[in-house]
Amino acid sequence: MARIKEVLSSLRLRGLSEEEQKKLVKSFDIVGDILIIKIHPELESKSRIIGEALHSLFPGVRTIAAVPLYAHTDELYRTRDIEVIWGDENLETTHKESGCIFKVDLSHVFFSPRLAYERMRIARKVLPGETIINMFSGVGCYSIIIAKMQPQAKVYSIDVNPYAYECMDENVRLNRMEGRVIPVMGDVSDELLMDKGLEGVADRVLMPLPERAHHFLPLAVRALKSTGSGTIHYYDIHRGRKRGGEELFNVPIQRARETISSAFGNLEMRIEDKRIVRSVAPRTYHVVLDLRIEKGNR
Ligand SMILES: C[S@@+](CC[C@H](N)C(=O)[O-])C[C@H]1O[C@@H](n2cnc3c(N)ncnc32)[C@H](O)[C@@H]1O
Repeated sequence: MARIKEVLSSLRLRGLSEEEQKKLVKSFDIVGDILIIKIHPELESKSRIIGEALHSLFPGVRTIAAVPLYAHTDELYRTRDIEVIWGDENLETTHKESGCIFKVDLSHVFFSPRLAYERMRIARKVLPGETIINMFSGVGCYSIIIAKMQPQAKVYSIDVNPYAYECMDENVRLNRMEGRVIPVMGDVSDELLMDKGLEGVADRVLMPLPERAHHFLPLAVRALKSTGSGTIHYYDIHRGRKRGGEELFNVPIQRARETISSAFGNLEMRIEDKRIVRSVAPRTYHVVLDLRIEKGNR
């Protein structure tokens, strides 16, 4: 990170004032051969020189793309505006993670390399023979990493974005996961209905849509097998309190409990694990709760 500061500081020589220097965002992501950086709205007119400076630091990248610092995020697909500021205009690339390869088209799908640890954390929990439903799979990263780590698991992998589905379908082939990861295109509210065959089949359900997962929690519970117990990896966004301390999880836990109890009465829910996945804005955290749901003999 020290070198990126140095290079970005040298921009002053080429036309950035001290005030503009302060507005530079110093963190970035590399996805395949594309570097992505956030740019403050007041620096948009300087994006070309920022792109050139970054290219001198990372000569191996094919494309440098910028996301506005306060970019609008598409409510349904979770994609953000993204613009090429240096290099090839093509935003399709291939990213390697945990021994898998993923085709991603950054202009049309959500993808974050910052979720690599979380994806692996979940994959390590899966037991042989499990049936898993990934409700919001994107290009299929969680599903494919799980199937690679646990060859005897089967993952139904659902996404409503046709571009994400297309990438996922190709990623299943690229990683030779046919029959172990089953891509499904559609809205979970339709795809998890009883007549589609995915109600009451899962040992584990993943809900990686932190902004809206709570709306779909009753569906996730119904997707679990109707007897015994199952696990839901429930994601949420917590705003407001300082990082650290147990109280950070109180609101997400209460929201999960209330949602489940108003849909199912006194269904037993235990918190098996909980963690902050990442910070997404000042004092705003993407959190996960691993919920163990006991259905008994319902
Ligand atoms: C945060 S992204 C998922 C990221 C993905 N799990 C990964 O690791 O890259 C959320 C995804 O949920 C999908 N989505 C949103 N609402 C949906 C719904 N009602 N049914 C199915 N998919 C949905 C979006 O298209 C998007 O690809």
